[in-house]
Amino acid sequence: MRMMKKVTAVALASCMAVSLAACGGSSSGTTTAAAEGDATEASEAAEGEATEAAEEAAGGEVANKDKPLVWFNRQPSNSSTGELDMTALSFNDNTYYVGFDANPGAELQGTMVRDYIEANIDTIDRNGDGIIGYVLAIGDIGHNDSIARTRGVRSALGTGVETNGAIDSTPVGTNTDGSSTIVQDGSIEVNGKTYTVRELASQEMKNSAGATWDASTAGNAINTWSASFGESIDVVVSNNDGMGMSMFNAWSKDNGVPTFGYDANSDAVAAIAEGYGGTISQHADVQAYLTLRVIRNALDGVDIDTGIGTADEAGNVLTDDVYVYNADERSYYALNVAVTADNYQDFMDSTVTYAPVSNQLDAAEHPEKSVWLNIYNAADNFLSATYQPLLQKYDDLLNLKVDYIGGDGQTESNITNRLGNPSQYDAFAINMVKTDNAASYTALLSQ
Ligand code: BGC
Ligand code: CA
Repeated sequence: MRMMKKVTAVALASCMAVSLAACGGSSSGTTTAAAEGDATEASEAAEGEATEAAEEAAGGEVANKDKPLVWFNRQPSNSSTGELDMTALSFNDNTYYVGFDANPGAELQGTMVRDYIEANIDTIDRNGDGIIGYVLAIGDIGHNDSIARTRGVRSALGTGVETNGAIDSTPVGTNTDGSSTIVQDGSIEVNGKTYTVRELASQEMKNSAGATWDASTAGNAINTWSASFGESIDVVVSNNDGMGMSMFNAWSKDNGVPTFGYDANSDAVAAIAEGYGGTISQHADVQAYLTLRVIRNALDGVDIDTGIGTADEAGNVLTDDVYVYNADERSYYALNVAVTADNYQDFMDSTVTYAPVSNQLDAAEHPEKSVWLNIYNAADNFLSATYQPLLQKYDDLLNLKVDYIGGDGQTESNITNRLGNPSQYDAFAINMVKTDNAASYTALLSQ
């Protein structure tokens, strides 16, 4: 391997002597730092952490199957068992997943709801029947983040029922009488008084066309639920802010019912001033950075940790209180923060880049590269209102030219049809419609 790298570097250096254009790179954008030095420098650089992709980028065509590939937000995994799809996650040496730490985040959401109930116990039981009733909007029954959040809330409120060692995350439909076997009644004791906690209703918010995490479906659901048992709803919980805000605007705001979401989208954070109960920041500012940063590093042929755990020359670096890397899972996970009435002022704009990684990279050292990136559903609140605006700021800082493709949230083909010519791009960032479908994309890259 070492030998091969040296040979490549020498070949590159001699090629440089002739003419850069003749070296077969698709554009002058393929010039690397190594190519600019002399033969010694070039071979030193190549001996370092240079990746195959970078070597080939310097010397010639890179096959699509060898280009950097980052999965983000929807982790390749089995939608029934949650088992990670390691084939997709290790598609090539430069394949990674970027998301957030779902289980601790879900626990944080559950705890936030429970803390709120305890702190407001004197006023929360609207009909005074001793039962704290909540309804739950579920995003996508096959999405591991959604499953984790449903479990986190049920676990913190004592309403979860274990099946095969894990809390059942199945929607209950309606359970106003507490007879469901999917959930159970929990209890909370405050000041020596015990209250029952009941999941009155929950459903997957999927529209008739098949789009999940669907905000309007959630708005309709709260209208239906409140019409038949509105007085018994004391708390509204949602797997995300898109659905949470739809329910808040449709009903809970006017009825003074605290509503909890996830994502810390700007509109949800602002609504905390008007009674929205709280949300969780999944540090989208860190995730969007990582999504593009691993691509930048792979294309530069530098250590993957550059500008992540190790400061780059511009001073970009992340500390371990905002992300973790799991090498076995080839996954970067941003960490979560609860956003409530106590601290929401600090989270008002969800599209601001994270200051420690907001330094511009030098365009000569890190020449422009082109990236194909898709968002599974252009109508998804979190991805369109928070994540994509952040990506668009980081793509400038990292000198990446990104083509953003917005899907319809229903079919993979709506997106893959728009990856007609992968050879035109240097790297890919993919947000699948369904976590099982990684092969629909890797097949295109393997052709
Ligand atoms: C977000 C949701 C979003 C989903 C899309 C989740 O991480 O919290 O708001 O709809 O990703 O995959
Ligand atoms: Ca009640």
